[in-house]
Amino acid sequence: MNSNDPLDMANGGNVAGSLEGGAEPEAGHLPVMADEVIDSLAPHPGSLQIDATLGGAGHAERILEACSPDGRLLGLDADGAAIARGARRLARFGERAVLRQANFRELEGVAPEAGFGLVDGLFLDLGLSSFQLVDVKRGFGFRAGGRLDMRFDTSRGRSAADLLATLDAVELTALFGRYGEEPYSGRISRTIVETRRSTPVETAEQLAALVVRAVPGKRGGHRIHPATRVFQALRIAVNDELGALQAGLAASLILLRPGGRLVVLSYHSLEDRIVKRFIAGEQRGCVCPPDLPVCVCGQSPRLRSLGKSRTPGQAELTANPRSRSARLRAAERLAA
Ligand SMILES: C[S@@+](CC[C@H](N)C(=O)[O-])C[C@H]1O[C@@H](n2cnc3c(N)ncnc32)[C@H](O)[C@@H]1O
Repeated sequence: MNSNDPLDMANGGNVAGSLEGGAEPEAGHLPVMADEVIDSLAPHPGSLQIDATLGGAGHAERILEACSPDGRLLGLDADGAAIARGARRLARFGERAVLRQANFRELEGVAPEAGFGLVDGLFLDLGLSSFQLVDVKRGFGFRAGGRLDMRFDTSRGRSAADLLATLDAVELTALFGRYGEEPYSGRISRTIVETRRSTPVETAEQLAALVVRAVPGKRGGHRIHPATRVFQALRIAVNDELGALQAGLAASLILLRPGGRLVVLSYHSLEDRIVKRFIAGEQRGCVCPPDLPVCVCGQSPRLRSLGKSRTPGQAELTANPRSRSARLRAAERLAA
């Protein structure tokens, strides 16, 4: 199945391992649609590339290989552990790989400071990595015994446990509905608020069990774990993932040189909708109401879509079933 359904992705459908984030350690993170990413990004020798979601650095490694011998890559991740891991994996590229711990919402400032003011390629691989999912201390997986954290950058912002402790039932209902499209968001929120009067809801395990209690039907009868949508919603809210995506996409217009490529891998419909609309809007240019006989806004197209979205092929789906919700969109920057 190549769906773009949030249900498939609730806990990070781009990961190579258990959706439930069990205790089994994994060998690593398999880069999703790596051939298609390279094909769309078309990195050439001497080019400047940005991978704004370094993760396990699998895509970054492929990009650096493709732009050998002298192309350079700026790798960004909000997670300091990803930067440390990436530095080890990319060490053989020497100064061709420049790594920074930063949120890609700050790309417009961070990239020029790092010497990547005008680039040939910008790649975003959204969501979380297998490394984050299996680290019980991060609280991304259902069975994690540690505190429900869910921050990509653990040095700032509010954790998922903080949100669960402080938001009222109305706010929690809105959060689960908006970011998880959870049909039982009201029941779940009320159960959380009732439970926390006597016991704080602090671990992933506790939250998963609470959701199972709150939603009707038996656990075995669900296609996915009943807590999948709630976990997705919390992760999106904790990291303001959709706001960051909007800012990252906007930065691409500033940073890409004419002919430069924007390539985005998304894993659920909320993300993909934003990417799709952004590319379509920038391809259209004009923002005048459709009933105006002539254009008065004067805005010209800034992107050209590079065809329809792409999804993983059968071989990849077999090798990495969690890639099934991936959707790749690509566009080229047009001259101003
Ligand atoms: C799917 S993984 C990337 C995997 C990577 N492409 C690879 O080959 O291993 C997504 C990564 O993006 C990071 N991330 C998510 N949102 C971010 C943001 N707004 N700014 C910076 N990094 C972000 C996460 O911390 C995670 O490490």
